[in-house]
Amino acid sequence: MKAVVVLVCLVCAASAHICLLNPHQRGSMRGINTKEADDCGLLHKPCGGRPQEKPAIQIKGGSSYSVVFQKNLNHFASYPNGTATNGYFEISFWTTTQCHVLDKINDSATPSLTLYTQTVTMPDGPLGVSAILQLTYVTNSHDVPMGGIFYQCTDIELF
Ligand SMILES: *[C@@H]1O[C@H](CO)[C@@H](O)[C@H](O)[C@H]1NC(C)=O
Ligand SMILES: *[C@@H]1O[C@H](CO)[C@@H](O)[C@H](O)[C@H]1NC(C)=O
Repeated sequence: MKAVVVLVCLVCAASAHICLLNPHQRGSMRGINTKEADDCGLLHKPCGGRPQEKPAIQIKGGSSYSVVFQKNLNHFASYPNGTATNGYFEISFWTTTQCHVLDKINDSATPSLTLYTQTVTMPDGPLGVSAILQLTYVTNSHDVPMGGIFYQCTDIELF
Protein backbone atom coordinates (compact mmCIF):
# COMPACT_ATOMS: atom_id res chain seq x y z
CA MET A 1 0.00 0.00 0.00
CA LYS A 2 2.86 2.30 0.89
CA ALA A 3 4.47 1.58 -2.48
CA VAL A 4 1.39 2.80 -4.31
CA VAL A 5 1.39 6.06 -2.41
CA VAL A 6 5.03 6.63 -3.24
CA LEU A 7 4.49 5.99 -6.96
CA VAL A 8 1.48 8.23 -7.23
CA CYS A 9 3.29 10.95 -5.38
CA LEU A 10 6.57 10.96 -7.24
CA VAL A 11 5.36 13.96 -9.13
CA CYS A 12 4.85 15.99 -5.96
CA ALA A 13 8.06 14.92 -4.34
CA ALA A 14 10.41 17.56 -5.53
CA SER A 15 11.28 18.46 -1.54
CA ALA A 16 15.59 21.43 5.56
CA HIS A 17 14.85 21.28 8.81
CA ILE A 18 11.14 21.62 9.13
CA CYS A 19 8.45 20.89 11.70
CA LEU A 20 4.71 20.62 11.16
CA LEU A 21 2.87 22.15 14.12
CA ASN A 22 -0.70 22.13 12.88
CA PRO A 23 -1.85 19.51 12.34
CA HIS A 24 0.64 17.99 14.79
CA GLN A 25 3.24 15.95 12.90
CA ARG A 26 3.73 12.22 13.44
CA GLY A 27 5.77 11.57 16.56
CA SER A 28 7.26 14.21 18.79
CA MET A 29 8.68 17.64 18.02
CA ARG A 30 11.00 18.06 20.94
CA GLY A 31 13.30 21.06 21.05
CA ILE A 32 11.64 22.97 18.21
CA ASN A 33 12.58 26.28 19.77
CA THR A 34 16.20 25.62 18.93
CA LYS A 35 17.77 25.26 15.49
CA GLU A 36 18.51 21.82 14.09
CA ALA A 37 16.07 19.96 16.29
CA ASP A 38 16.35 16.24 15.52
CA ASP A 39 12.59 15.90 15.17
CA CYS A 40 12.62 18.51 12.39
CA GLY A 41 15.47 17.03 10.36
CA LEU A 42 13.82 14.00 8.78
CA LEU A 43 15.25 13.17 5.37
CA HIS A 44 13.82 9.75 4.62
CA LYS A 45 11.06 9.43 2.11
CA PRO A 46 8.17 9.09 2.69
CA CYS A 47 7.19 10.86 5.88
CA GLY A 48 10.70 11.04 7.32
CA GLY A 49 10.49 7.31 7.98
CA ARG A 50 7.97 7.82 10.76
CA PRO A 51 5.32 5.09 10.99
CA GLN A 52 1.70 5.65 10.19
CA GLU A 53 -0.54 6.54 13.12
CA LYS A 54 -4.26 6.32 13.60
CA PRO A 55 -5.70 9.60 12.26
CA ALA A 56 -5.98 11.88 15.30
CA ILE A 57 -7.64 14.74 13.49
CA GLN A 58 -10.72 15.03 11.31
CA ILE A 59 -10.89 17.91 8.84
CA LYS A 60 -13.97 18.88 6.86
CA GLY A 61 -13.66 18.02 3.18
CA GLY A 62 -13.53 21.12 0.99
CA SER A 63 -12.89 23.43 3.92
CA SER A 64 -10.19 26.03 4.40
CA TYR A 65 -7.56 24.82 6.80
CA SER A 66 -4.60 26.67 8.28
CA VAL A 67 -1.42 24.66 8.16
CA VAL A 68 1.23 25.94 10.56
CA PHE A 69 4.84 24.95 10.15
CA GLN A 70 8.25 26.06 11.29
CA LYS A 71 11.37 26.49 9.20
CA ASN A 72 13.55 25.08 11.97
CA LEU A 73 16.79 25.68 10.10
CA ASN A 74 17.21 28.04 7.17
CA HIS A 75 18.70 26.50 4.05
CA PHE A 76 18.03 29.38 1.68
CA ALA A 77 21.15 30.88 0.19
CA SER A 78 22.01 33.45 -2.46
CA TYR A 79 25.08 32.85 -4.58
CA PRO A 80 27.64 35.46 -5.70
CA ASN A 81 26.50 34.94 -9.31
CA GLY A 82 23.09 36.36 -8.48
CA THR A 83 21.14 33.10 -8.33
CA ALA A 84 19.66 31.52 -5.23
CA THR A 85 18.76 28.04 -4.04
CA ASN A 86 15.12 28.55 -5.07
CA GLY A 87 13.87 26.01 -2.58
CA TYR A 88 10.23 25.71 -1.60
CA PHE A 89 7.76 24.23 0.84
CA GLU A 90 5.04 21.98 -0.44
CA ILE A 91 1.84 20.89 1.28
CA SER A 92 0.18 17.83 -0.19
CA PHE A 93 -2.66 15.46 0.56
CA TRP A 94 -2.28 11.72 -0.02
CA THR A 95 -4.40 8.67 0.14
CA THR A 96 -3.38 5.26 -1.14
CA THR A 97 -4.69 6.22 -4.58
CA GLN A 98 -4.32 9.96 -4.91
CA CYS A 99 -2.02 12.82 -4.30
CA HIS A 100 -2.98 16.49 -4.47
CA VAL A 101 -0.54 19.31 -4.10
CA LEU A 102 -2.47 21.82 -1.99
CA ASP A 103 0.07 24.62 -1.94
CA LYS A 104 3.62 25.52 -2.73
CA ILE A 105 5.45 28.37 -0.99
CA ASN A 106 8.79 29.64 -2.23
CA ASP A 107 11.59 29.62 0.29
CA SER A 108 13.19 32.98 0.99
CA ALA A 109 15.77 34.49 3.31
CA THR A 110 13.54 34.11 6.37
CA PRO A 111 15.59 33.13 9.44
CA SER A 112 15.64 29.78 11.19
CA LEU A 113 12.65 29.24 13.53
CA THR A 114 10.30 31.32 11.33
CA LEU A 115 6.68 30.22 11.63
CA TYR A 116 4.54 30.00 8.51
CA THR A 117 0.76 29.86 8.46
CA GLN A 118 -0.64 28.83 5.11
CA THR A 119 -4.34 28.43 4.45
CA VAL A 120 -5.13 25.61 2.05
CA THR A 121 -8.37 24.21 0.67
CA MET A 122 -8.77 20.57 1.60
CA PRO A 123 -9.94 18.14 -1.10
CA ASP A 124 -13.67 17.25 -1.06
CA GLY A 125 -12.86 13.62 -0.44
CA PRO A 126 -12.43 10.76 0.02
CA LEU A 127 -14.27 10.93 3.34
CA GLY A 128 -13.67 8.60 6.26
CA VAL A 129 -10.46 6.99 5.07
CA SER A 130 -6.93 7.36 6.37
CA ALA A 131 -5.10 10.12 4.58
CA ILE A 132 -1.85 11.98 4.99
CA LEU A 133 -1.12 15.67 5.03
CA GLN A 134 2.50 15.94 4.00
CA LEU A 135 4.84 18.89 4.26
CA THR A 136 8.14 18.92 2.47
CA TYR A 137 10.97 21.45 2.46
CA VAL A 138 12.69 21.10 -0.86
CA THR A 139 15.89 22.98 -0.19
CA ASN A 140 17.70 22.59 -3.51
CA SER A 141 20.78 22.99 -1.36
CA HIS A 142 23.94 21.00 -2.01
CA ASP A 143 24.72 21.29 1.71
CA VAL A 144 21.82 19.02 2.62
CA PRO A 145 22.37 15.28 2.16
CA MET A 146 20.03 12.76 0.53
CA GLY A 147 18.62 15.05 -2.11
CA GLY A 148 18.03 17.96 0.22
CA ILE A 149 14.38 17.27 1.00
CA PHE A 150 12.92 17.26 4.51
CA TYR A 151 9.65 15.47 5.25
CA GLN A 152 6.86 15.63 7.81
CA CYS A 153 3.47 13.95 7.78
CA THR A 154 0.29 13.97 9.81
CA ASP A 155 -2.34 11.25 9.64
CA ILE A 156 -5.73 12.80 9.06
CA GLU A 157 -9.22 11.90 7.94
CA LEU A 158 -11.72 14.00 5.99
CA PHE A 159 -15.32 14.06 7.17
C1 LIG B 1 25.59 30.09 -9.47
O1 LIG B 1 26.39 29.60 -8.38
C2 LIG B 1 25.90 28.39 -7.81
C3 LIG B 1 26.74 28.03 -6.57
O2 LIG B 1 28.09 28.08 -6.86
C4 LIG B 1 25.90 27.27 -8.86
O3 LIG B 1 25.41 26.06 -8.30
C5 LIG B 1 25.02 27.71 -10.02
O4 LIG B 1 25.06 26.73 -11.03
C6 LIG B 1 25.46 29.05 -10.58
N1 LIG B 1 24.50 29.47 -11.60
C7 LIG B 1 24.86 30.06 -12.73
C8 LIG B 1 23.75 30.42 -13.64
O5 LIG B 1 26.03 30.26 -13.00
C1 LIG C 1 8.58 30.95 -6.97
O1 LIG C 1 9.81 30.60 -7.55
C2 LIG C 1 9.69 30.26 -8.93
C3 LIG C 1 11.05 29.77 -9.46
O2 LIG C 1 12.05 29.84 -8.54
C4 LIG C 1 9.21 31.48 -9.72
O3 LIG C 1 9.08 31.15 -11.07
C5 LIG C 1 7.86 31.91 -9.16
O4 LIG C 1 7.42 33.08 -9.80
C6 LIG C 1 7.94 32.16 -7.66
N1 LIG C 1 6.60 32.39 -7.14
C7 LIG C 1 6.29 33.45 -6.38
C8 LIG C 1 4.89 33.54 -5.91
O5 LIG C 1 7.12 34.31 -6.09
